[in-house]
Amino acid sequence: MSIDGRIGLKNGKSQWITDIYSRSMVHSIRAEFDAIIVGGNTLRKDNPLLTSRSRKSPEPLRVVFTRTLNLPLERNLWNCDVAKTLIVYVESSANEKNLDKIPRCIELAKIPSDNPQLLSKLLGERGFNKILWECGPDLATSAIKNGCIQETITFIAPKILGGVNSMTPFADFHFEDMDEVKILSKSTIQLLDKDICIKNIL
Ligand SMILES: NC(=O)c1ccc[n+]([C@@H]2O[C@H](COP(=O)([O-])OP(=O)(O)OC[C@H]3O[C@@H](n4cnc5c(N)ncnc54)[C@H](OP(=O)(O)O)[C@@H]3O)[C@@H](O)[C@H]2O)c1
Repeated sequence: MSIDGRIGLKNGKSQWITDIYSRSMVHSIRAEFDAIIVGGNTLRKDNPLLTSRSRKSPEPLRVVFTRTLNLPLERNLWNCDVAKTLIVYVESSANEKNLDKIPRCIELAKIPSDNPQLLSKLLGERGFNKILWECGPDLATSAIKNGCIQETITFIAPKILGGVNSMTPFADFHFEDMDEVKILSKSTIQLLDKDICIKNIL
């Protein structure tokens, strides 16, 4: 994010806020994980590759969490030669018509509700225990609210994006009092080339 806490402009443009050194560090961080989760909206908007750029073999499992299954026909994540992709969707008669559009090499799993805890449990049962949630504000907030996150990694770039409607890393937690806000501990601060990386325990 930028120094004023923005992860994108009002029009959705966000490439790039952090510099090449930070982005390369993200590839190395991905290599420490068994699986990486994004939500359907990040898949639609960013078309990420979500790999460690060969720092880990095999690459971490790429996971798309979706309620709607409204996913584009062509996405980098559909290239199964690079890494495996799993789509986890919420069971509903409304979205099942979209199943036909998913490429055959992609594995599918359904869960009964959109509670992120069910996704963590499903991945744990399959042996994926160290999970990186690399998602946007809505899913990140939902994952934190449901106790799925133990550690945060924040990259801050010395840029000002400004604007009241720019994207921020989290959606509304509906806190009413400062006693309710999330408090992070054990800050580890690393000065990078231009950016700063802060790791915290939640
Ligand atoms: N700067 C960064 O590091 C960074 C990282 C990631 C994303 N982003 C930005 O974040 C924006 C997208 O934000 P987003 O919040 O919509 O992210 P997201 O990662 O797409 O998560 C939201 C999507 O997750 C799915 N979902 C399933 N269960 C959910 C639940 N319980 N709560 C919330 N979502 C659930 C839904 O997909 P369906 O709609 O398919 O049902 C929903 O639209 C993009 O513009 C992207 O550029 C930035």
